[in-house]
Amino acid sequence: MSKPITPDLETAETVRDAHSVPFQLRCIGCGEIGGAPTKNLRCAGCGDLLEVIYPGWKLRGPAFSPSTLKALWKQRRSSRLPLDESGVWRFRELLPNLREEKDAVTLREGNTPLYAMPQCALKAGVETLFAKHQGMNPTGSFKDTGMTMAASIARQEGFRWVACASTGNTSASMAAYASRGGMRSLVLIPDGQISWSKLSQALDYGAVTCQLKTDFDGCMKVLNEVAMRVPIYLLNSINPYRLEGQKTAAIELLEQMDWQSPNHVIVPGGNLANSSALGKAFVEMQELGFISRIPKISIIQAEGANPLVRTMRENAGKKLISVRAETMATAIRIGSPASWRKAVRVLEATGGAVEQVSEAEIALAKAEIGAEGIGCEPASAVTLAGLKKLVKLGFVKRSESVVLILTGHLLKDPDFTLKFHRGDLLSPANSDTYDAILAQQRAPIVLEPKAEAVMEVLGKFDSRLGA
Ligand code: F0G
Repeated sequence: MSKPITPDLETAETVRDAHSVPFQLRCIGCGEIGGAPTKNLRCAGCGDLLEVIYPGWKLRGPAFSPSTLKALWKQRRSSRLPLDESGVWRFRELLPNLREEKDAVTLREGNTPLYAMPQCALKAGVETLFAKHQGMNPTGSFKDTGMTMAASIARQEGFRWVACASTGNTSASMAAYASRGGMRSLVLIPDGQISWSKLSQALDYGAVTCQLKTDFDGCMKVLNEVAMRVPIYLLNSINPYRLEGQKTAAIELLEQMDWQSPNHVIVPGGNLANSSALGKAFVEMQELGFISRIPKISIIQAEGANPLVRTMRENAGKKLISVRAETMATAIRIGSPASWRKAVRVLEATGGAVEQVSEAEIALAKAEIGAEGIGCEPASAVTLAGLKKLVKLGFVKRSESVVLILTGHLLKDPDFTLKFHRGDLLSPANSDTYDAILAQQRAPIVLEPKAEAVMEVLGKFDSRLGA
């Protein structure tokens, strides 16, 4: 596996050799390198989380130069090999290498669009706003980019079962990748607290799905206990390989922006793995010489599920303050995020901010993203809501370029959207932004089956068309 690379040849062949330089796991707490993890994927010494490091990159030489890799990755866009068609494995030089390519479990994830968002830019008060839509992945969320990596490792290591606790998207993604990889999957979800769309995905993709009478944090506790007792591989985001796959959203984003970093990247915060993964990617891309400046990564939480906001504000990120989480953005209803320490490191390394937003602000932002023809699930909309606040605070300047990471597809939570447009989601009393919300609502209109009735409605919206 650890063939040395020859630094003097700049050919695709040498780049492939560079990829065979191994990676290692390092504990983010005590720093131990290469120790065998516990069954629940923590450091056996101190119990903290693990991260992937690549000592081989130090040996890389010109074969690993940004210009060579950029050309190789671009060239793969026209290849029909499954690994090249994947927007994750296309960047495999910067990922853990599999012993055999046949172990890769891919649904051709990644390759997600970067959209200009001119209307939302106006609402937020910035000149240049983009959305990187990770909801355009095969199962409708960003989880697929990490899942392809970690599910492939599970298959390579010969696991028959994989498992996760989830607020819905991880479980949907894991169920799909497990089945594609010929593995069984166990899903633990909080009873009655995830959207029907996500639950239906887990069922359809063939997972054994258990709804536990607790919240997400309770599901995580039970899962940890199960993992200690049976040979089952955890695919929660504490799995360090998940983060490696999720890094590729940042690499792909840079590629889409012609390798010019935006000033700000805004991410929703739940279990805090995605912000950690994106931060790790930008830091690595700078170390490797792809970019000269790292964007500020800001993390936005719902007011009712704000453990990171409190942790940063009340004790400067020294010790996690857990909360009892409550928000209609169910994907991020998490009170005790596993990757909080990694997220704190990312905030420190990139100079980003943490912010919290109300339920009404989330709902309004989601409708505004939808009205731009893009759409996303509620948890993703915290990014636009948070951006508005960061602009007001002067943290984001009008002239700076901003990218919102939209994490899930609009169809992940149709209930929320229908309630919003029917006016059943929020009461005027609990919302400062109620007028703006009313202006976004588009309730369905029930009519007699007559052309006149339809014309009358049209006339209300456009006098040139009406009866
Ligand atoms: N957005 C969506 C749509 C999510 O599903 C999640 C997390 C997040 C944002 C937050 O990302 O946890 O990396 O900070 N969903 C997990 C799940 C917890 O089980 O599907 P994070």
